[in-house]
Amino acid sequence: KNIVILISGRGSNMEALIAARDAGNLPVNIAAVISNRPDAKGLETAQRAGIEAHFIDHKAFAGREAFDGALAECIDGFAPDLVVLAGFMRILSEGFVRRYEGRLINIHPSLLPSFPGLHTHQRALEEGVRIHGCTVHFVTPALDHGPVIIQAAVPVLDDDTEAMLAARILTQEHRIYPQAVRWFAEDKLRLENGRVRLAAGQ
Ligand code: GRF
Repeated sequence: KNIVILISGRGSNMEALIAARDAGNLPVNIAAVISNRPDAKGLETAQRAGIEAHFIDHKAFAGREAFDGALAECIDGFAPDLVVLAGFMRILSEGFVRRYEGRLINIHPSLLPSFPGLHTHQRALEEGVRIHGCTVHFVTPALDHGPVIIQAAVPVLDDDTEAMLAARILTQEHRIYPQAVRWFAEDKLRLENGRVRLAAGQ
């Protein structure tokens, strides 16, 4: 299967996908990495790994629809089976999301539906929850609310700082994202009538 990864920054989840592929654990062709920010560190990492890396500056477009149109055109040039959002920090228009329905996934640093949006670790600490985590989900027009594919939970410890909690969760992100993409690549995962279908035995 062919995948395209969209990033905006560090790209550690992208790196986890590249590492899984390199280890022979992820049967995909990473056709391209696309960033909306020219300074995304992940762009260099992708290039070093020999992956085609593009950037499309959202600031160069009049509005969201125009940017999303250019992004879709770039993505479609690689004919991906799956589009993987990995720290892509732009809200996508409904038209864009519908175009890739069932083949657009995201990773979010909370146990959805708790804590959609930004600053999830800080908010989890403020709320005093004892369990926090991360979620891979299919993307739907409702921000951070798509059908859940896989989640990982971690304990929140008494002396946790935001950074400590973020690091504990990031380790889990790097485990569950390759797992979700592997299921998709092996045809074990699909979206059917708005619900996640995972092949028996998973
Ligand atoms: C991750 O925590 C991801 O869950 C969130 O943004 C962060 C991206 O990190 N959506 P990276 O760019 O993959 O290192």
